[in-house]
Amino acid sequence: MIPHLAGSALLERAMPVHMEKTLRHFAGNSCPDPSSVGNDMALQDAPDISSQKLKPARPRPPRRAPGLTATLIRPHLLSNLIASYPHDWYDGDFHEFRIGIAAAGRGTVVNHPDTIRHILVSHSDNFPKDTNQLAILRPLLGDGLLTASGPGWRQARKLAAPIFQHSSVRDFAPIFVAAAQRSVERVLQRGEIFSIDREMTQVTLEVIGEAILSADLSDDIEGIAGTVTGTLEKFPAMFLAAALLPPRIRDAFLERLVLAGRRQLDVFARRIIKRAHERESGNSLLTRMMDASRADTGHEMSLAQVRDEVATFLLAGHETTATTLSWAWYLLTLHPEAFERMQAEVDAVAPNRPLTAEDVPALPYTRAVLDETLRLYPIVANIMRTTLADDITPTGLPLKAGRTVLISPWLMHRHRRYWQEPDRFVPERFLTQESTAQPRYAYLPFGGGPRVCIGASFALLEAVLILGTYAQHANIRVLNAHNVRPLARIVLRPNRRLRAMASKRRPAT
Ligand code: HEM
Repeated sequence: MIPHLAGSALLERAMPVHMEKTLRHFAGNSCPDPSSVGNDMALQDAPDISSQKLKPARPRPPRRAPGLTATLIRPHLLSNLIASYPHDWYDGDFHEFRIGIAAAGRGTVVNHPDTIRHILVSHSDNFPKDTNQLAILRPLLGDGLLTASGPGWRQARKLAAPIFQHSSVRDFAPIFVAAAQRSVERVLQRGEIFSIDREMTQVTLEVIGEAILSADLSDDIEGIAGTVTGTLEKFPAMFLAAALLPPRIRDAFLERLVLAGRRQLDVFARRIIKRAHERESGNSLLTRMMDASRADTGHEMSLAQVRDEVATFLLAGHETTATTLSWAWYLLTLHPEAFERMQAEVDAVAPNRPLTAEDVPALPYTRAVLDETLRLYPIVANIMRTTLADDITPTGLPLKAGRTVLISPWLMHRHRRYWQEPDRFVPERFLTQESTAQPRYAYLPFGGGPRVCIGASFALLEAVLILGTYAQHANIRVLNAHNVRPLARIVLRPNRRLRAMASKRRPAT
């Protein structure tokens, strides 16, 4: 790393003034911080959302995809990538683009389920993760599961896979339910307007701390959440830097952008490792992974390996689920009838006791609410790959070596050919023919192939049990739902804090 690069003469010589301004603009505090907006709403100001029949928010698509020049002149286009997708990208099998998100500014959006299968599953060796995307994440996550490649990744995935299987993850259901009960009690006792997205961050952090790291992170929650949000806020600058700077300068710039976050994560990770070592025995996912490594290779995971996995699970394992739950509360506010149906389902299954993992198969509607939430707001909205060798996909699309490929769950999940009324919230579609008749890769909130999300079973079980536990005890309403827009950073999240009210439900009879 070149220390103190940003602000140095080297950086200034390396890029044109307007570009440098752009990067500094994004790297600074000029992006709206969700913690600082929307805080001033009083309950009496809140419009009755349900009577307005609001549609789930989405950006209005531009007529044409912005080119490289437009992106340089109006760099805010990159601060919310999904807002730059033109109308015709929600249809068709592929589209060429020329904006600053790919090496050399060129790439192909792949919009056909068979092509997606080809790239992510059957020919995945020819389509490794995009180097620019890795350049953005590596300074923060090192060589954890999300960012590693080659034999290092294969070994780590082999160790972690059995631990994240559905059958193993069920052991953690009591942790999910207990954390959800504490959370719903907290919001009911507070009796005032609160940020439901902040509450979801807290509950999922408690879960990840206990289940994955065997550590009580409650003292650190604000710090970790701040680190994550602060780092994600710099995403547009990282994107632009990754796309436009030569690799050496790019890497130094990115290192510097995330340095503070990385240092904080190191501190958390060391504390967690120390606590895990001090315990006589531990049954957390991380301890199981350390045990599996010892059994498999005959030696301990290195400090760096453990730290990178801790950082990866902290970031990949809570913000994703927390944001999905936040979107679910937003959508359930727009559709109170769906919330009532969910409550009726939970009441029928567990009228006067906490939920368990065994109840989950009997909660198909609650699960469908989550599936539909992930369709409309797929937290990982963009998946990028690079083409290694010249390739032709099953749909006849030629992809030249070096080509950046963009697979966008955001676009695929709203593709007019595959989804009826794609912009509407209809959980029932996941209980009917519509979803079962779909080609497999028309729906991919967790990606696919060998690099599919390892935490999918964990996340779904956790989210169903948290939503279900809330449904048992409380009515929830997001007060500023009329003002919310999706913002695609590293995760797709609401552009402002979700101000909510909770009221106690009559206990079910
Ligand atoms: C709703 C919640 C979640 C969503 C939507 C989600 C989505 C994704 C997606 C789309 C990928 C693939 C990215 C790519 O192919 O480039 C991924 C990878 C990953 N996710 Fe998740 N995720 C969620 C929750 C979790 C949780 C709870 C954990 C851990 C406990 C986790 C850990 C990971 C890891 C380690 C990878 C990298 C796997 C590899 O490359 O081998 N995720 N996730």
